[in-house]
Amino acid sequence: MFLSRLIARHKGMGRTAAMQAIAGKRVKVEDQVVTDGQHEVDRFSTVWLDDTLVQEGESALYIMLHKPVGYLSATRDPQHPTVIDLIDHPARETLHIAGRLDRSSSGLLLLTNDGRWSRRLTEPGEKVDKVYLVETAEPIAPEAVELFAKGFYFHTEDLTTLPAELGILGERLARVTLHEGRYHQIKRMFHRVGNRVISLHRESIGSLVLPVELFPGQWREIRRDVLRSQPTQKG
Ligand code: URA
Repeated sequence: MFLSRLIARHKGMGRTAAMQAIAGKRVKVEDQVVTDGQHEVDRFSTVWLDDTLVQEGESALYIMLHKPVGYLSATRDPQHPTVIDLIDHPARETLHIAGRLDRSSSGLLLLTNDGRWSRRLTEPGEKVDKVYLVETAEPIAPEAVELFAKGFYFHTEDLTTLPAELGILGERLARVTLHEGRYHQIKRMFHRVGNRVISLHRESIGSLVLPVELFPGQWREIRRDVLRSQPTQKG
């Protein structure tokens, strides 16, 4: 919501007084004076009006994990180890996954308790780039590049996939960029060109790249101000 709305609600202050207080540099968000009433705040923002605490922000948690093969992208499962089992953070129970990976896939997985952020990353309409390194069983036909770019009709969902970029790196190695995340999408796309994925590794989501020093099974927290300072979308 807009900062002006939060301040206006504070002790029934009203919109005009709220706008005046903001313009008069009396309002701080996360220790910074904010003079724009349309500045976005949410339940994680700490907001002050002069010396009065208007809202104490809840702690938001953003985690990047190098998901190893064999772990399920779920918070609990009776059969298989889940990605949550890898995260020894006291607030791990509050986390959800922002864009799953198959059990047989590895690479960058993002977890958070901030639903607004994860929706921005995962909703197809947002078209956030997701980049994958793919190894296939058969040689990759050059014609596949155009077919990936055209999109495939998926009968189950009754939709055509958005244009995807297929970059052929070797006989059986490719880099694929998706702008959405449909169920088993890359495996199904390769299947449609008569091939089979044998390994799939996610390198990046938007501007967040899996760091080389983060080994399979390791995770790190991403600071909220770092996320805010970079666009989700590349380019
Ligand atoms: N496409 C797939 O087929 N699997 C994944 O895990 C991610 C994208």
